[in-house]
Amino acid sequence: MSKKVSNIGRLNHIAIAVPDIDKASNAWEKALGAKISSPQILPEHGVKVVFIEAPNTKVELLEPLDQNSPISKFLLKNPNGGMHHICYEVEDILTASKKLILSGAKILGDGTPRIGAHGNPVIFLNPSDFSGTLIELEEVK
Ligand code: CO
Repeated sequence: MSKKVSNIGRLNHIAIAVPDIDKASNAWEKALGAKISSPQILPEHGVKVVFIEAPNTKVELLEPLDQNSPISKFLLKNPNGGMHHICYEVEDILTASKKLILSGAKILGDGTPRIGAHGNPVIFLNPSDFSGTLIELEEVK
């Protein structure tokens, strides 16, 4: 029997696309008592983002920077916002990428890791390979 090694580690964050990040942050803060980080602008990903810390993971709220943002397209279909992706940690993003490609899964974009919101390399996987869910893998050492 072959020993299987999991390609995914802990759940790093769940990302929620929102049309108005200030309004959404307020709701999370007031109703849930959530602690909200200060906003970050990530031009490479076309988003403004805040993080909400929970004991076992984070929630990211994502607002599109402009019409070309991938989040804008998502919000056209989900005008009130909605769950956009989940992010798992991996120890080595290049090893994880190679395994995924060998398994037949597709990496979005040109397939090479980009630097994500936490300053670590990330890749995104084709949602049609995973039950319609967009999965981000982030290298966390
Ligand atoms: Co993310």
